[in-house]
Amino acid sequence: MRIAVVAGDGIGTEVVAEGLKVLDAVLPGVETTAYDLGAARYHRTGEVFPDSVRDELAQHDAILLGAVGDPSVPPGVLERGLLLKLRFDFDQYVNLRPSRLWPGTSGPLGGVKPGEIDFVVVREGTEGLYTGAGGGLHRGTPAEIATEESLNTRHGVERVIRDAFARAGKRARRKVTMVHKTNVLTHAGGLWARTFAEVAKEFPDIATEYQHVDAAAMFMVTNPQRYDVIVTDNLFGDILTDIAAAVTGGIGLAASGCINPTRAFPSMFEPVHGSAPDIAGQGKADPVAAILSVALCLEHLGHPDEARKIEEAVATELSGRTGEPIRTAEVGDRVSVLVA
Ligand code: NAI
Ligand code: MG
Repeated sequence: MRIAVVAGDGIGTEVVAEGLKVLDAVLPGVETTAYDLGAARYHRTGEVFPDSVRDELAQHDAILLGAVGDPSVPPGVLERGLLLKLRFDFDQYVNLRPSRLWPGTSGPLGGVKPGEIDFVVVREGTEGLYTGAGGGLHRGTPAEIATEESLNTRHGVERVIRDAFARAGKRARRKVTMVHKTNVLTHAGGLWARTFAEVAKEFPDIATEYQHVDAAAMFMVTNPQRYDVIVTDNLFGDILTDIAAAVTGGIGLAASGCINPTRAFPSMFEPVHGSAPDIAGQGKADPVAAILSVALCLEHLGHPDEARKIEEAVATELSGRTGEPIRTAEVGDRVSVLVA
């Protein structure tokens, strides 16, 4: 098994170090190769994502990413040039974001107990409003025009919906909620709704429901217990998963996978959070999101027992927290001992 590691910038490097510590403890001997990408490289060399690096990454079984970005880099350079390019070039069409209220943690919602929130968002990762389709005219003048188009293909929508149903089939509650805005976005929404109804027929033992995205944003705060698997488009999923992270104890715990289920290209696993320049270099970032990303990676690569071990160790770690400030390396050490 060969894993490429893009630790990136800021706390990305700090949390990935702990993820790798845990990986080595739970499954010794995995070959990891570090790749230098992100704001630091951009400033040093002007390069964002050379083709030669892309070709090398493609040879790996998976990619572990920390976070890239810094306020000193113009917006979009790394997001479009590196993160989105990886997702698109490697056709990572399932953006998987599990949300769980872990034992020992408390979210901002009163009355919700650990264990009660346990859902996963399957966000479409290669289409929608994120393809860069659009353009502009008369920039900087009062006549300026800007368009940003949402691209949705039957192929792209169908494969991500089918993936969501397959995931629901492996979970206890066996329910898929499709989220869109079919009442207003009738073109894309119509395609999503028809495809959802057709794929659902292949999975008669899985319950289905549909919600508009604005209603889903509300229910995610008032009644997140109701969800099992949510499938939605790229932009809606981006926004909903930040709400999901917020109601389940914060961004320091939220892991994600950008998955190519066909395995034609490597999938990428990363914490949902960014490089957190405000706390970088202080050794106080929570590495749990990065550690749980390692668990998602192992699950994807066919090591479910090791993935469960990491999740159980994280549950123990979180149950033992007392509200004291955490130390990044100490969390990694404790979890490593628990999984070894
Ligand atoms: P951010 O997620 O880096 O930070 C938001 C807030 O959460 C900050 O107050 C930060 O200290 C805190 N936080 C984040 N992760 C934490 C952790 N593990 N433990 C404790 N606290 C944590 O988002 P922000 O500030 O909007 O972006 C910072 C940079 O990261 C930007 O350059 C942005 O473009 C980039 N970014 C990169 C991502 C990626 O590589 N996938 C994702 C999101 C942002
Ligand atoms: Mg986001």
